[in-house]
Amino acid sequence: MPSATRLLALAALLVSASATSGVTPPSQQGSFNQTPQDVTPPTPDNDLIAQTAGQVDQKSGPSIDAQPNAPVAATTVTALDGTLTNTTIADATAANSTRRRDINIGRFGKRQSKYEQVFAGLPAGQHDASLQSSAYLTYTVVNNATYNVDACTAWCDTIEGCVMVNLYYEFNNELLDFVFSEKSNLKCAAYGDIHSAAEKTNFGGQASYPQVGNETVPLTYITQSSGWALKALEDPDTPDGYELVFGPTGGANNAPGYMGFAFLDKYDVDACAALCNGRGVDPNGGGCAYFNIWRALVDGIPTTYTCSMYFLVADVSTAVNYGQGNLVVTLSRGYARKDALIDGGFEGYAGCDDFCFTTSYSNWIGTSSAGGNLDATFFFYQPYAHNGHGSALLGAAADADALAGTIAPAAPLVTESGAAYVVQCFTYSGFSGAQFEAPAKVDILWNGQRVGGVSGANTKYTFVEAAVTGTGSDHLSFVGGAAPAWIFIDDCHVYKA
Ligand SMILES: *[C@@H]1O[C@H](CO)[C@@H](O)[C@H](O)[C@H]1NC(C)=O
Ligand SMILES: *[C@@H]1O[C@H](CO)[C@@H](O)[C@H](O)[C@H]1NC(C)=O
Ligand SMILES: *[C@@H]1O[C@H](CO)[C@@H](O)[C@H](O)[C@H]1NC(C)=O
Ligand SMILES: *[C@@H]1O[C@H](CO)[C@@H](O)[C@H](O)[C@H]1NC(C)=O
Repeated sequence: MPSATRLLALAALLVSASATSGVTPPSQQGSFNQTPQDVTPPTPDNDLIAQTAGQVDQKSGPSIDAQPNAPVAATTVTALDGTLTNTTIADATAANSTRRRDINIGRFGKRQSKYEQVFAGLPAGQHDASLQSSAYLTYTVVNNATYNVDACTAWCDTIEGCVMVNLYYEFNNELLDFVFSEKSNLKCAAYGDIHSAAEKTNFGGQASYPQVGNETVPLTYITQSSGWALKALEDPDTPDGYELVFGPTGGANNAPGYMGFAFLDKYDVDACAALCNGRGVDPNGGGCAYFNIWRALVDGIPTTYTCSMYFLVADVSTAVNYGQGNLVVTLSRGYARKDALIDGGFEGYAGCDDFCFTTSYSNWIGTSSAGGNLDATFFFYQPYAHNGHGSALLGAAADADALAGTIAPAAPLVTESGAAYVVQCFTYSGFSGAQFEAPAKVDILWNGQRVGGVSGANTKYTFVEAAVTGTGSDHLSFVGGAAPAWIFIDDCHVYKA
């Protein structure tokens, strides 16, 4: 491979032989000509999150007329970017996914431990109260011949996401007493979070029996309401297409690249991953690359589950928002989206520390058209990069010909066969100005097939994406440029869709 210095010397010779545009080409460190982007990547609006946490009401429990053993409802979004809502994950995502995904209720913890009593019920004769709390899942009734704690916790083991049960008698409920087949008034309610006796706020007091003549309808009441929770919680399963970066800690990320937040009705890492995948695109930052999920305690009570999304990958070093006012951050975890593309930001090319370029390096191969020269190159030069110092260039770097170049990763991408992926990149075709760049064009090829691309001039790095399907080992390439209609490429990713 020729050295960078040699390439430069060669380029200098070639430029005099060609250069119809009069534009100083990239090989000569020509001006990038980009509309200045003075965009500081946003950080979370913690005031808005805290304010919304004060408004949202996710407290729930079995209603008097609910059927026992109903399937656990899919996780819902209770607030999106500060606006209260009640929507499914699918409806809350900006991009319409082509397939509807099954959301698994994320496991807040796996059960490898026994249950312990979190709070006891009041003595049998006294009126008590049941939980009215976040992350309510479903309920059953257990045989009421005895105060059947074991049957209740054993049932919790069968409910995905169940980490706590609330066991209590409910009296004067006509459906429990006469209608439902179980003929038991001993309710066992499953929760996906651990709650305290301070949250026993449902005292009953509702009319369930029918009015007969002028008789007073007896109102429901609750006795012996106890709480049983898993002794230890383990990490949830990592969502498909992601890797755990940190957690659990008591700090939420306060990191750049923030795209917004959603509140979930459960601590559901899969739901947060689906929101990140469907989040849409920040025009300067690109697609969602990372999420931070955490539980908000408000006045000590589990209140909501925050899913914050980022276009930049964060880590534990910025997980320093511990809460504010009466809000405390707990169970904070960060997950990064796995990238099937190695070095899509071209930062791996380090041939110099200021300005240099090459036709290939360890992670990427550039190929010129037959008879072409420097039609595909990789630059180390911060002013040409979207982020960092590396970028790729299609179109003869020295303006020596008007032929297309091809860049491709040095090795095929390792993917999951049959899985949907999305190729995301930023491209810039403004180097030589609107007139010379008008015919600019780049095609994105996946195993040789065109799956997307960009054409025409633009004035700054602009986002482009293409949907593809993995085959297990995939060849990605970008083909285009025709000097002086150069195309710069940077910050590419291949994410599971
Ligand atoms: C949300 O909407 C669903 C479906 O319309 C409804 O069953 C549920 O009660 C609503 N939840 C809240 C908290 O409004
Ligand atoms: C997204 O889906 C909704 C409802 O199915 C539809 O009305 C809308 O046109 C879709 N938007 C896009 C961009 O496909
Ligand atoms: C069990 O529940 C049924 C149905 O509510 C009720 O009729 C019965 O009296 C209860 N038995 C006991 C021992 O509490
Ligand atoms: C209820 O109705 C019965 C017969 O209709 C009557 O004898 C009784 O006084 C009524 N009780 C009250 C409290 O109104």
